[in-house]
Amino acid sequence: MSWTPNSWREFPIKQQPVYKNHAMLKSVEAELSSYPPLIFAAEARTLKEKLAMAGRGEAFLLQGGDCAESFADFNAPNIKNFLRLMLQMNMILMYSAGKPVIKVGRIAGQFAKPRSGDFEEIAGISLPSYRGDIINSIEFTTEAREPDASRMLKAYNQSAATLNLIRAFLRGGLADLSRVHQWNLEFIKDNSLGKKYDELSSKIDSAMKFMSACGIDSAVMPQLHQTMLYTSHEALLLNYEEALTRKDTDTDEWYDCSSHMIWIGDRTRGLSDAHIEYFRGIGNPIGCKVGPSMNPDELIELIHVLNPKNEEGKLNLIVRMGASKIAEYFPPLLQKVKESGLNVVWSCDPMHGNVEKSSSGYKTRDFDNILSEVKQFFVIHKSMGTVPAGIHLEMTGNDVTECTGSQSCAITSDDLSSRYHTQCDPRLNASQALELAFMLGDIV
Ligand code: PEP
Ligand code: CO
Repeated sequence: MSWTPNSWREFPIKQQPVYKNHAMLKSVEAELSSYPPLIFAAEARTLKEKLAMAGRGEAFLLQGGDCAESFADFNAPNIKNFLRLMLQMNMILMYSAGKPVIKVGRIAGQFAKPRSGDFEEIAGISLPSYRGDIINSIEFTTEAREPDASRMLKAYNQSAATLNLIRAFLRGGLADLSRVHQWNLEFIKDNSLGKKYDELSSKIDSAMKFMSACGIDSAVMPQLHQTMLYTSHEALLLNYEEALTRKDTDTDEWYDCSSHMIWIGDRTRGLSDAHIEYFRGIGNPIGCKVGPSMNPDELIELIHVLNPKNEEGKLNLIVRMGASKIAEYFPPLLQKVKESGLNVVWSCDPMHGNVEKSSSGYKTRDFDNILSEVKQFFVIHKSMGTVPAGIHLEMTGNDVTECTGSQSCAITSDDLSSRYHTQCDPRLNASQALELAFMLGDIV
């Protein structure tokens, strides 16, 4: 079956905006197609090799970031706080698991959102749903909710600037292991987790001093001084992805150069739908969400379509069942894939199956359910002799109150209103994310 970057247009497609201004859409697509790629295909291949290691249990995948990036929250402190949190979690996991950690951000392109309904109703007024800043605006007015193709250009520019700052920070010294203490964020320094992290940093400091005395320091070992964060997002808006799809001159393969890795959401993974068609043709490592409605035969077919050469590290299956469903729905899928001998990298998204409405009216997730899903994911793999290769989280380096619970900050339903800033789903704040990382460190 032939494939081109635009062959998806011949297939049914879900969760898309309806642009009224076609001329503007065409001109935006043409402009984006002429822009430079945001990533280099060889980087995507390196990530694939690293994910292959994770699939064999030799490394661990830590993927996380905003549910939805926003134009309004685009600034250096937000990016820096997120990186500091990623670096802290990386340290905790590396130190306890003794494995390399592959850091992948939901960042520099995570703008398009699938929604449960096409319309949102407030006080008897019905307007098109907010679909992410790359499509429309969150304010509840007719003008704001109208899809605007020029937002794709703004998303591209924001992604480019975000990626630029990430590369600058991580290569320019922020990730230097002599700075582990400084990654602690101001608002958690004094709580129990900040202190626990500080103790770990002191151990790393001692190890660094010892190594330096042996002649090994960041002057001779660049790994001690810099690191890499790969980018990822849900490639939902295919007009944008197609425009950034480029042929790699080294291999003659097509890559989606909007991001190192992209994934397909649980609502758009239909086997005969446009998203599967687009994804099957690109060389990037790709993810696919796997929710409770997936059945084992469908999953096997999907793996064949998305990873026809059965490459290691190519396909990350991101399981998101919910704490109360994973024990029933996940084992039959895992069993079937294990028997098939197909190569996949399993990770756990303990966020999207655990959304609930709090008594105070906010969309939230309870930390206990998140922990429970993660633990069950590991136990199920252990009983099956398969590899739990990673974790996929919605989190922020900021001090928000969006998910309830956790020992370190014990957020209650009534606390949610205090700093509920997400554009879409509730994220773990930095304390909650560190608490999860410490728990993970004990079981990875
Ligand atoms: C997401 O990752 O933000 C998302 C919408 O997930 P899912 O497709 O699993 O619902
Ligand atoms: Co989400």
